[in-house]
Amino acid sequence: MAGTRIDGNEVAKSVKARVKEAVAVIKGQGISPCLATILVGDNPASATYVRNKHKACEDVGILTRDHKLDSSITQGEFDRVIEELNQDSLVHGILVQLPLPAQLDEFASTSRISPLKDVDGLTPHNAGLLAANKAVLVACTPSGIMEIFEYYNINLDGKNVVVINRSSLVGKPLCHLLLEKNATVIMCHSKTRNLAGVCQSADVIITAVGDRTRFTLTPEMIKEGAIVIDVAISRFNDKLAGDADYDGIIQKASFASPVPGGVGPMTVAMLLRNTVTAASLSSQIGRQS
Ligand code: GUN
Repeated sequence: MAGTRIDGNEVAKSVKARVKEAVAVIKGQGISPCLATILVGDNPASATYVRNKHKACEDVGILTRDHKLDSSITQGEFDRVIEELNQDSLVHGILVQLPLPAQLDEFASTSRISPLKDVDGLTPHNAGLLAANKAVLVACTPSGIMEIFEYYNINLDGKNVVVINRSSLVGKPLCHLLLEKNATVIMCHSKTRNLAGVCQSADVIITAVGDRTRFTLTPEMIKEGAIVIDVAISRFNDKLAGDADYDGIIQKASFASPVPGGVGPMTVAMLLRNTVTAASLSSQIGRQS
């Protein structure tokens, strides 16, 4: 029997409904949550992601600021934009769309964001809090995946979870969140040996490679009843595709997320939630001073 298709749009809708209520409450306290996005250059995929984020903010009543910077901007000029947004009390969340052009250092650039406005959970401060199980603002894709597990009542206690990604935005934060849920986590990457064998031992596979010419998760690589979460998105055979051969995988898996319509909508929903959390942090700081 085929497994259950994970409907990311449905889960995202439930998160967005709760965010919309939280926006109404915080507006009643005189705070209008506002997200500032920074897009450097003219990468069409990044521009689409940023547009989608603005539209989602509008849907739930979050204000937006749209900063589009020239691809030749220097690190100093970029840092000044971040500094202005850090100082702006009407801006609660700052999102730097990645990747950045080569002359900008991604770690240095995102580290300049005030931890209280760091809606991507990328600053050393927030990454450290996550490692200590004390996080308030967590990277959006990992927290969106955890929300999917919750929505579908998937218990991770004692499960073998294979994560194919080790980035700061996906694999590393996800590892901490999975450990908090008592999963046994195996982190895989480009140097992992016998990846197919490792996948075959997994109860849950979370894959985020994003290059089908290098890697495809096939039905032969998963065990009967496994759960597959596909985070990747790339163009393959002129279509949007994840890492997994979804049509084949769903015949063997107990749950699988499609691309598009799986994890993608969750990333956006969690960004909205983080923006409201950041707005409420700003109000707590305001009361203390
Ligand atoms: N580029 C791809 N995914 C993301 C994300 O979740 N946040 C940011 N800032 N950039 C991205």
